[in-house]
Order: sequence, then C-alpha cells, then structure tokens
Amino acid sequence: MPKAEKTETAIDRFMPVQLDSLRIDSILDFDLYVRAGTDYVLYRASNMPFTEENRSGLLRYNVKVLYVAGDKRRQYQEYLETNIKSIVLDPTIEENAKAGIVYDSAKLLVKDVLDNPTLGNNIRRSQSLVDSTVAFILTGRNAFHSLLRVMSFDYYTYSHSVNVCTFSLALAQFMGIEDVKELCQLGTGALLHDVGKTMIPEAVLQKRSQLSDREWELIKAHPQWGVDILKETGLIEEESYYPVLEHHEREDGSGYPRGLRSGEIHAHSKIVAIADVFDAMTTRRVYRSAVAPFVALKEIFDQEGVFDRSFLENFTLLMGPAGQHKRS
Ligand SMILES: [Fe+2]
Ligand SMILES: [Fe+2]
Repeated sequence: MPKAEKTETAIDRFMPVQLDSLRIDSILDFDLYVRAGTDYVLYRASNMPFTEENRSGLLRYNVKVLYVAGDKRRQYQEYLETNIKSIVLDPTIEENAKAGIVYDSAKLLVKDVLDNPTLGNNIRRSQSLVDSTVAFILTGRNAFHSLLRVMSFDYYTYSHSVNVCTFSLALAQFMGIEDVKELCQLGTGALLHDVGKTMIPEAVLQKRSQLSDREWELIKAHPQWGVDILKETGLIEEESYYPVLEHHEREDGSGYPRGLRSGEIHAHSKIVAIADVFDAMTTRRVYRSAVAPFVALKEIFDQEGVFDRSFLENFTLLMGPAGQHKRS
C-alpha cells in the first residue's frame, strides 16, 4: 500500500484526546494509543484505571495528546460528558486545555442532537453540557477568550450552534447576568436555536441562488419548528424557547417569524440574535471567506435600528482586542 494512503487512513481511524481530559483513577472503557510518526501504537488497554503515574510518565515525554480509535468515539464522548464538570472546575488544568475539551465535547454532542433532536437523552446531555459551559464561563473572562481561541471558523450547523451558545453566554455575563439558572436557560436556547432547521431539506439550506417563495417560507418557519421540537421532548424550560423563537426578530420589526418590535423581543433573544449574525459572518462558508470580526461588527452597527444598540455596544466591548485577532 502506498505510504500516503496508509497515513490518511490511520488519521481517519483515530481521534485525538487531550491528556487533561483523562481523570486520574478513572476507569476508561476505550483503548488509548500514542502516535509514533504516522502510526498509532497501543499505549493502554481499556478497563484499567488511569493513574497519576501514567500521567506523569506521559508528561515526562511531553505527550499531551493521546488517541482513541474512531469506533470508540462514543465511549470517549460519554466519558468526557460524565467528567466535564470536574474538568472545568479542576484548578490544575490550564484554561486553554479546558476550553479545548469543552468545545470538542460540545461539537460532538450537538452533532448527535441535530441527528436526533427529539431524543430525550440528547436534550438532557445538552443541558448538562450547557451547565458545564456556564460553570466554565463563570470562572472568569479569560475562559471566554480561551474558548475564542479554540472555536472553529468553518461553518457547520453544529459548530455554529456551539459558537452562538458561547458568544451568548459571554455577552450575558458581560452585561451583568450572573444567575446560573438564567444563564443555563439562555445557553440551552442559544445552543438549540437552529434546531428547527433539521426540518428543512439540506438542498434549501445550502442553496446559493435566490430562494423561491416556497423555500423562503420554509426558512421562515424554522424558529417555530424549533420550539415545536423542544416542546415535544417536554424537557426544556419555557424560558429557553424565547431565543429559539425570536432570534430572527429585529428591533425595527423587519424580522421573522412574527415581525416583533424592540419592546416585544425578549432580552435573551436579542443576545442570541447578535451572536447568531456575528458568527454567521465571521465563519467561512464553501462559497465565501470569513469576514474579519471588526468588519462584521461595523457592518452590523451600520444596519440602523436592526439590533439593540446597547446590546451591540456591549458585544463590541466584550470582543475587545482579543476578539479582534481571533478570526482575521
Ligand atoms: Fe436561525
Ligand atoms: Fe443560527
């Protein structure tokens, strides 16, 4: 077999795992591998506890990333979700590593949610992930900037969902919302804001030419469909419906689905609306490159009366200099 081909296959078959995500003395139900050039070598068989000695031994050789086989992705994901809160609150793990773990875990989870949004277990997993993300964001402003550094700049509905949730929680906290319950309600709505898009055919979502009236009707229906899906699960608090239903409403009444005006739009929805449009502009699409953050902010500001001025000003302050370099 030619060498290049072998390498590609091996990389496809293994996924990286941050050493920091492995809890000391926990039993792992997946094998761990280390990378040796283009090969992956078994380091530790499953069902053995991962010890402090294992960890320090790896660190002595500067190994900070291990690998699990692709077919054990689910086991690793479950392990991660079970342990994420303790990882986030562990003072010995550095912030950037925590951010990477939270973000990767969120992306894997949202992929599952979008594949099967009415599955109760998926919704419960989302809520526990939002809970950990809130705990992480509340550890300080650096947490948000660490998340900014690990965010994906390529647009996929799942990474978009995670980005919008991250921006929304950071903006809410920046604007003085500190109540954990409220942040969790907002975060859940933000993470699931586009869940109604799962009802729209991919061909319509990806269409680059002008949409027909019928197709546009489908797009305009996704906020309500999102709420319908969440209601069906019976697991989401009603406060989380607002951002799902209203993230395309605009201050001047030009939004959809109901054409609400400023005073009629929930504060959480205003936050998610800004996070949504900012992420959509600053991520790469197949058909266009990303817009630099400061250009995106300027363009959003220039749309007079469309977004809440004071929310937008806060978002600009939040992004600050650290936000300015992240996607340029
Ligand atoms: Fe949307
Ligand atoms: Fe969106």
